[in-house]
Amino acid sequence: MTTKNQHHHTSSSGWLRHLTALAFVALSTACLSGNALGQTAESAHQNDGPWWKHAVVYEIYPRSYQDSNGDGIGDLNGITRRLDYLQNLGVDAIWIAPMYPSPQVDFGYDISDYENVDPKYGTVADMDHLIAEGKQRNIRVLLDMVLNHTSDKHQWFIDSASSRTNPKHDWYVWNDGLPANGPNVTAYQKRFEHEGRVPPNNWISGFGGSAWEWVPAVHQFYYHKFYKQQPDLNWRNPAVEKACFDAMRFWLDRGVAGFRLDAIPTLFEDTQLRDEPDAGGINAQGDPNLKDIYTSNLPDVHDVMRRMRAMVEKYPGNRVLIGETYLPNTAALNEWYGGEKHDELQLPMDMLLGFHGDHDKLDASSFRKFINEAETQLYGSQPLFVFDNHDNVRSWDRYGDGVHNQQIARILATILFTTRSTALMWEGEELGMVTTTPTRREDVKDPIGITGWPKEKGRDGERTPMQWDSSKDAGFSDAAKTWLPVAPDYKTVNVKTEEADPNSLLNWHKKLIAMRRNDPTLRDGKQVMIDDTNPSVLSYVREGVAGNPAVVVAMNFTAQPQTVSLEPKQANVSGSTVTTLLTDAPSLQETTSLQKITLPPYASWIGSIK
Ligand code: BGC
Repeated sequence: MTTKNQHHHTSSSGWLRHLTALAFVALSTACLSGNALGQTAESAHQNDGPWWKHAVVYEIYPRSYQDSNGDGIGDLNGITRRLDYLQNLGVDAIWIAPMYPSPQVDFGYDISDYENVDPKYGTVADMDHLIAEGKQRNIRVLLDMVLNHTSDKHQWFIDSASSRTNPKHDWYVWNDGLPANGPNVTAYQKRFEHEGRVPPNNWISGFGGSAWEWVPAVHQFYYHKFYKQQPDLNWRNPAVEKACFDAMRFWLDRGVAGFRLDAIPTLFEDTQLRDEPDAGGINAQGDPNLKDIYTSNLPDVHDVMRRMRAMVEKYPGNRVLIGETYLPNTAALNEWYGGEKHDELQLPMDMLLGFHGDHDKLDASSFRKFINEAETQLYGSQPLFVFDNHDNVRSWDRYGDGVHNQQIARILATILFTTRSTALMWEGEELGMVTTTPTRREDVKDPIGITGWPKEKGRDGERTPMQWDSSKDAGFSDAAKTWLPVAPDYKTVNVKTEEADPNSLLNWHKKLIAMRRNDPTLRDGKQVMIDDTNPSVLSYVREGVAGNPAVVVAMNFTAQPQTVSLEPKQANVSGSTVTTLLTDAPSLQETTSLQKITLPPYASWIGSIK
């Protein structure tokens, strides 16, 4: 079980997938013709379901987005300052990574108070202001809710760890461990011996070492899936659920539109504490790779999800639950929606498409497979696709070949916005920001990059500050030193420069988002693959909706020209006149027939059939 460092070397996929699921296992010219952009947003938004169904959700890492007070760290007022940019891009909702008070061991994913804002990021009043300003611009605010664990500095844990008789003792997962000299105790367990006791089993922390930490005051170990400063809550105790739901209500009452649920498949652990099977090999942190069948995706979690959904649904305005769900396959993903009943999460993330392993190759066949499965195997639930986040090497580097990255980034964006999916993007993805991994261990901020160096260099590379313009520190901060250095390419890769260039990646995103926002076909049209077996070209049609024309999408996944026929034989499409809506290949701009189209290397083409 390796963490994401693999990306840097073998370019494998999602680091967390390894924790939770792997267990099983030359800038071209963008051309746009106006026809798709004519309608107003309002006219297309009628009657096609709750707001989140076709939303563009944009992830913001508050530390890295915009510093408003010159301390080198981004903050909430900085985000508020950038809402006009987000509105202009076409974003419907922002998900803000944890901004609660936190010792910041895991940069906010170690929460010490769920009902407040870390002074580094501002105040609750600043959050209220951000929510209100977002509302003015039709941008909803989603918070990151970390329910698997708290910080070890949360008062709940301080109480819990103070004595075995404290009323909160059972709020966390405690165990007496085993006698170090007992039978079957392994050498690995012995590495973590304290006062003659060893951890009760072989479970490892995804961030290195045993998942069990000894506390002398209670003579017990507590369980932590992540850093030892992130003790796991005991979800078998109903008081924990109540306290966590209360924390969620605190923010729902203040007007947040929902939550992204962090590491949600790991809420429960096997009550028998069975050893996890060995998966072979040693990970970057020096621990044996395990199949995490007893610490992730346990069926018990689904009852909690159903109760959480019911709680959230009591609020008006279609509040939404998004899950960070690294899962082994589409069948497992379906369970997180509640299958046919649709009574769990509205939007568990489909990590299979964007972080699908096979070294995240740009492979038309596997993309087709996952897009099709999301369309046909989720009982009509709404898929949520995503290619990028704050935990993984940027898609630019994972999918790029080093030569055609600009076009490959356009292919990913085309898929994100022209499939029948809710779209989740990560700050800077729209600019083509690159992963800037530290080159010296002493510069690393992410603890796993320090303990795992040099095999695991941590996640700093994808978290560098947002690049706004070509001024010092890219307009991110006035501080003498920013918390992470701005990536060296900021003079050319930045919002201001790309806004001025009609052919930029940023404008490609804007055009795609506007098209989708305004075209009922792209929002709701049935999606049918065109050539099911073509290994080089991914093509599909969206059947016309409400009298609007059908839309055809084709992308060349190879470095060679590909000639294809795009006649949508399996789909219910009438008309034979084709016009180009958007392409990055000038030669395709005048396309008039679907019969014989030659797509240049890595070209994307979107057309309308009338
Ligand atoms: C977050 C990570 C974090 C981990 C532990 C993940 O799902 O995205 O950034 O380190 O959970 O909270």
